[in-house]
Amino acid sequence: MNIILFGAPGAGKGTQSEFLVKRLDMTQISTGDLFRAAIKSQTELGIKAQAFMDRGQLVPDGIVIGMVEEVLQKGKKNIILDGFPRTVAQAESLDQLLVKMHLSIGKAIFLEVPMKILMDRLTGRRVCKGCGAVYHIVSKPTKTEGKCDICGGEVVQRNDDKAEVIETRLSTYLEYTSPLKEFYKKAGRYVEVDGNRGAEEVYLEIEKIVK
Ligand code: AP5
Repeated sequence: MNIILFGAPGAGKGTQSEFLVKRLDMTQISTGDLFRAAIKSQTELGIKAQAFMDRGQLVPDGIVIGMVEEVLQKGKKNIILDGFPRTVAQAESLDQLLVKMHLSIGKAIFLEVPMKILMDRLTGRRVCKGCGAVYHIVSKPTKTEGKCDICGGEVVQRNDDKAEVIETRLSTYLEYTSPLKEFYKKAGRYVEVDGNRGAEEVYLEIEKIVK
C-alpha cells in the first residue's frame, strides 16, 4: 500500500518512515530530504529551495510537484510520501499525477502532536552531516557527543531548527498544511494517529494501518 505520512514539523514523520522502511521494506520519498540532498550538491533545484527552507517557508508548489513527479516515475512500490503534499494545491496535483501514473494512495496518516512538544523536539533535534541519521539531545542522544553512532560523522543542528525559524515553520504548517486533514477526510483516506507517545508505540499503530 502507498501512504501519505503528514503532520507538523517534528511530528515524527522521518522517524516513523525509517521504521517502515526497515521493517516493512517500504520506500520513503521525503521532499525535505530530497531538497537537502540537492542543497548539499548545490544543484539549481537546491539553490532555489535553500532560500525558502532557511526562512522556514514552503518551497513553491511548482518546484515541489515537478520533483515528486520525477521520483514517482522511477516506479517504486509501497511508497511513503513524507512531507508531501503540504498544501491543498499539492494534494490536488498529486491526485492528477496518481491518475496519470495508475497509482493510488491507501491512507493519509496524520501524526497528531501538541505544539509545545513539537518545539522541544525540533530545538533538541540533531542530525548527522554524513548519513543523515536523526538524534535528539534528550530522547535519543549520540553515544559520543557530536559524533554519529552509525558513521562517525559530525552531528549538527539543522539550519531550520533554530527557534526563530521553527516559529515560521509551525505557523506555515497551521496555515497551509493543516487544511489537508479536511481534504483527506472528504476523500475517505484520513487516519489520525496519536504521535505523542514513544516512537515504538506510534510505529506499532501505523504498522497495523499499513498491514
Ligand atoms: P522537512 O524536512 O519535511 O521538515 P518538516 O516537515 O518540518 O519535518 P521535520 O523533518 O522537521 O520533522 P519530522 O516530522 O520528520 O520529525 P522527526 O522524525 O525528524 O521539510 C523541511 C523544509 O523543506 C520545509 O520547511 C520546506 O521549506 C521544504 N519542503 C519540504 N517538503 C515540502 C513540500 N512538500 N512543499 C514545500 N516545501 C517543502 O522527529 C523530530 C525530532 O523528534 C527528532 O529529534 C526525533 O528523534 C524526535 N522524535 C520523533 N518521534 C518521537 C517520539 N515519538 N517521541 C519523542 N521524540 C521523538
